[in-house]
Amino acid sequence: MASNPAFDEGLAAPRHVAIIMDGNGRWAKKRRLPRAMGHKRGVEATRQIVRAAGDLGLEAMSLYAFSSENWKRPEDEVSDLMGLLRGYIRSDLDEFVEKGVKLKILGNYKAFAPDIVDLLEDALEKTAGGNGPTLAVALNYGAQAELAQAAAAAAAKGPVTQEAIEAELYSAGLPPLDLIIRTSGEHRLSNFMLWQAAYAELWFTDTLWPDFTPEEFTAALEEFAGRERRFGGR
Ligand code: IPE
Ligand code: IPE
Ligand code: MG
Repeated sequence: MASNPAFDEGLAAPRHVAIIMDGNGRWAKKRRLPRAMGHKRGVEATRQIVRAAGDLGLEAMSLYAFSSENWKRPEDEVSDLMGLLRGYIRSDLDEFVEKGVKLKILGNYKAFAPDIVDLLEDALEKTAGGNGPTLAVALNYGAQAELAQAAAAAAAKGPVTQEAIEAELYSAGLPPLDLIIRTSGEHRLSNFMLWQAAYAELWFTDTLWPDFTPEEFTAALEEFAGRERRFGGR
């Protein structure tokens, strides 16, 4: 895996970064374009950041693409987002396979249209053997539901310990979450990876998601590397 020269001086490179990709709508509004255009440009930004994550040597990246609360949006916007999801998987799956990117899905994706479920399952199968970074995409994801389900699944098997819950989360098997990035100037988690966020560093930028570049992503990772993490110790 490629390594990032920014981390050569013994700085701690993050292993797992999560991104709340927010601001597509405001990006479009600013330009008097339809919201769909913002989402379309958002996919382009996602593509570039996914490539950068591989180049920077991350072990895992989790992307918040569609929350369980995003169903509240107008039907035509949800349908635009579904169309873009189809398009992204179709156009980039070969590249994932070629680069050894392992796809993982966080969330109840089975609630999506049957053709999307098939597309996602095909992508999971084709990338399962990859030896590169994991790309975890949060689709119809909500952390509170994830935790309730994980606790119930753990209880069905035995004592409800922290480890037992962790093993039932969608993120089971991923490295600990080091850093959460949120674009668009909002300072909240919006029901994203609440358990995993326990000791993650937080990094916020006013940049709207379609304008987020690999350069800014690299800058966030470098800033992270200079932070002191204490995990409650001293
Ligand atoms: C993020 O952009 C994409 C999704 C939530 C699916 P938004 O659509 O939330 O953009 P804003 O927040 O309205 O600008
Ligand atoms: C969070 O963004 C969800 C995704 C980025 C997919 P939202 O735009 O849905 O979050 P809120 O409503 O501003 O909290
Ligand atoms: Mg938003």
